Amino acid sequence: MGTDVAQSRSRVTDIPGPRSRAAAVRRGQAVPAGLGAVLPAFIAAAEGSVLKDLDDNRILDLGSGIAVSVLGHRPPAVVGAVREQLDAFLHTCFTVSPYEQYVEVCERLNRLAPGDRPHRTVLSNSGSEAVENAVKIARATTGRQGIVAFEGGYHGRTYMAMALTSRAVPYKSGFAPFPAEVYRAPFPDAAAGTSDDDLDRGFRAFVDAVQTSVGATNVAAVVIEPVLGEAGFIVPPAGFLARVRDWCTLHGILLIADEVQTGFGRTGDWFACEHDGVVPDLLVTGKSIASGLPLAAVTGDAALMDAAPRGGLGGTYAGNPLSCAAAMATLDELERIDAPALARRLGSRMRARLDPLVQDYGMVGRIRGRGAMLAVEFVLGADDATPHPAMAAAVAQYCHREGVLVMVTGAHRSCIRLLPALTMPHALIDDALGVLGDAVREAA
Ligand SMILES: Cc1ncc(COP(=O)(O)O)c(C=O)c1O
Repeated sequence: MGTDVAQSRSRVTDIPGPRSRAAAVRRGQAVPAGLGAVLPAFIAAAEGSVLKDLDDNRILDLGSGIAVSVLGHRPPAVVGAVREQLDAFLHTCFTVSPYEQYVEVCERLNRLAPGDRPHRTVLSNSGSEAVENAVKIARATTGRQGIVAFEGGYHGRTYMAMALTSRAVPYKSGFAPFPAEVYRAPFPDAAAGTSDDDLDRGFRAFVDAVQTSVGATNVAAVVIEPVLGEAGFIVPPAGFLARVRDWCTLHGILLIADEVQTGFGRTGDWFACEHDGVVPDLLVTGKSIASGLPLAAVTGDAALMDAAPRGGLGGTYAGNPLSCAAAMATLDELERIDAPALARRLGSRMRARLDPLVQDYGMVGRIRGRGAMLAVEFVLGADDATPHPAMAAAVAQYCHREGVLVMVTGAHRSCIRLLPALTMPHALIDDALGVLGDAVREAA
C-alpha cells in the first residue's frame, strides 16, 4: 500500500502553494517562532526522493530530512518491518520489559562500528541525547570533567549538546548559562592546506588550545565530527583525526566521534573516521540509522560502556520497538546495497555536475565535503573568498520555487548542503542539480 508519489518533479502551483500558505498561517498561530522552516511547503506524502505537498507539487528532496532518509522516503523493507512490529507490540520500555529488537540493533552496531574489541551499544531517541550519553559515559569512565569540542562543531540542542555546539546565534542565543567544563579547540580545514606542515600546524593549534584552556589531565573526552556538518561540510587534513586519536590515547582521554550526520556510508566509508583509519572510543550515531523513526546510539568498548552505573542510562522511549524494527531493516538494506560504495558513486556523479560551477562562476568558491555529503560554498568573487550568504539564500530560493529542496548551511550561512538519498535515481539527481546550476546562473 504505497502512496504512489510519481518519481519526478512537478510544479502545479507556486511553491509554497495556497494550501501550504494557509497551513503556514495556522502554524504561525499554533507553533512558536523559534522553530525555523527551510521550505514551507507542507508535505502530504513522500516516496523515494520526491516530496508531494498539499498543493500536489512534487519536490525533489536533496536534504533527506537532514541526512535521515538515506534510502529515500518509505523504503518498502522498512515500511514492512515497521508494519510487522505494529502488529506485535508498540511499547514496553526496554528497561522495564526488554525485547530482542533492541538487542539486535545493538548487536548490529557493535559489529559495524570500527575496531576489533568487544563493543556495547546504548540506544536513545535523538542525536543530542546520544551525545549526552557519550559525555556521561566518558566522565564516569575517566573520573575527569573537561570535554573538548571544536569550533564550528554541532552536536544538538539539549543543554549539554548545545554547550558543545559552537555557533551561538541562533542555537544558543538567550539560553545561557550552559553546562560547565566545555572547552573549544580550532578545527583545521583541508582547504587551507594538506601538506605535513599544514597538518602539524592544525594539530599544534588543537593541542595548544586544550593545554592552555584546561590541560590534558583534566579532559575526559574530545568530541569531534570527522567532517563538520552544520559548519558547511568542512573536511580536516588527512591524518588530523589520527593525530588527535594518538594524542588522546597518550593522555588517557576518550575520543568521541559524533557521526550522527556522517555515519552509515554517507561519506563513502561506513563511518567517516575510518577514512583516517581511526577507531574512536565512543561512536555516536543517529539520523540515517532508522529511515526517519527516532533512534540514535552510542557504541563503544565494552569496558568503557559498562562504567555508567546501573540505572544511569536509559529513557522511557529510548530504543522503542518501532524504531528498532526500522533500524534493522534500514541497516540490512544499507549493507545489501553497499551504502559506502553507493555514496562514492553518487558523490562522483554530483561532483561532475558541481565542479564546473567553480570554474564558471567566481561566486562559487569550493565544493566541500566527502562522498555524497557535499556543499556548494558561495563567496564574493574568484579573488575574494569572503562568504556570500545572500547568494546562497538566492540560490536556495530559486531551487525551492522550482521544486528542489536544498538547505543553506555554514558558519556564515553561505553554503548549500546536499544530502540526497544514496538511492536517488540518476535522472532525478541530474534534474535537481540542473536546477541548482540554473539557480547559480540566475543569481550570479
Ligand atoms: C553531528 C550532529 N550531532 C548531533 C546532532 C543532533 O541530533 P538530533 O537533532 O537528532 O538531536 C546533529 C543533528 O543535526 C548532528 O548533525
